[in-house]
Amino acid sequence: MKFLVTGGAGFIGSNLVDYLIEEGHTVKVIDNFSTGKKENCNSNATYYDIDLSNENNLPLIKNAIKGVNGVFHLAAFPRVQKSIDNPLIFEKNNTLSTVNILKACSEMKIKRLVYSSSSSVYGNSSKLPTKEIDQVNPISPYAMQKYYGEVCCRVYSVIYNIETVSLRYFNVYGDKQNLDGAYALVMCIFAKQRMNNLPLTIRGDGNQRRDFTHVSDIAKANLLAMQSKKVGNGEVINIGNGNNRSVNEIAKMMGGPTRRIDSVMEPKETLADNSKAKKLLEWKPSVIIEEWIPSYKKSLGISD
Ligand SMILES: NC(=O)c1ccc[n+]([C@@H]2O[C@H](COP(=O)([O-])OP(=O)(O)OC[C@H]3O[C@@H](n4cnc5c(N)ncnc54)[C@H](O)[C@@H]3O)[C@@H](O)[C@H]2O)c1
Repeated sequence: MKFLVTGGAGFIGSNLVDYLIEEGHTVKVIDNFSTGKKENCNSNATYYDIDLSNENNLPLIKNAIKGVNGVFHLAAFPRVQKSIDNPLIFEKNNTLSTVNILKACSEMKIKRLVYSSSSSVYGNSSKLPTKEIDQVNPISPYAMQKYYGEVCCRVYSVIYNIETVSLRYFNVYGDKQNLDGAYALVMCIFAKQRMNNLPLTIRGDGNQRRDFTHVSDIAKANLLAMQSKKVGNGEVINIGNGNNRSVNEIAKMMGGPTRRIDSVMEPKETLADNSKAKKLLEWKPSVIIEEWIPSYKKSLGISD
């Protein structure tokens, strides 16, 4: 099959591109390298340097997606705090990119678009594990824009005859994650501190828990969502491990001395109910963090 990945030079997108190529598919990528990196590029994919958020680029976008069987839409600015500091820039980038790619897909009669959404749409959910039918409560411009993208996907599937499905990822980790990370993942912060012989900084009591999901499982979920006959009508589906770890537990896995710092406003706990993904996509997570962290530490030269 022929697929196009938007945001394919980023952390998750580049892992998806590599996976699709390994699976024998032909892959094109649209990325403007705003946060994506040239070193993430796969020599077997074709890259188009296009800003998706600019409506004048619609002809270029249509040209790039011509002839593909489906589009994976990942391009976005995924930074919660920065979206709070720069709501207008984020609004333009994250919402217009989604509308432009949906419009291009519908005009080019692309069969299906799989949209990358986020568990951040739930805000500080008190219902755990969180189900797709639970109340959404975005508490940042970024989360609001991710939610709006889901709504756009559903509306386009109803009125413009394009199949869509939205995947709500829980905290994603894995190869090519940025040490200065978009999400400043806790293990990236800890890794940098270990590399600089500094104590690991634990916010608050360290009992906040996250549902960490490996990027290879996210890539698999995307391809399943593209191919499943059971979806395509704007469904939203949680993609999360279904178990979580505390910051204290991650610190223990990373090793070394720790130091407490002030807490920030953040959800106490995230935890996915992933039964819908299991049922509709026949997806199940396969990587557990305890097995991954030792290889991560080794790749960065961090001793135990
Ligand atoms: N990393 C996570 O834990 C996580 C969790 C939930 C959802 N997501 C979603 O997954 C997607 C990918 O996230 P990531 O962590 O890989 O981020 P990333 O910043 O590494 O990748 C985003 C990519 O999109 C590109 N891009 C951004 N705006 C663009 C535009 N206007 N035109 C063309 N390209 C553009 C960037 O250059 C970059 O390559 C995002 O949609 C994000 O909201 C990520």
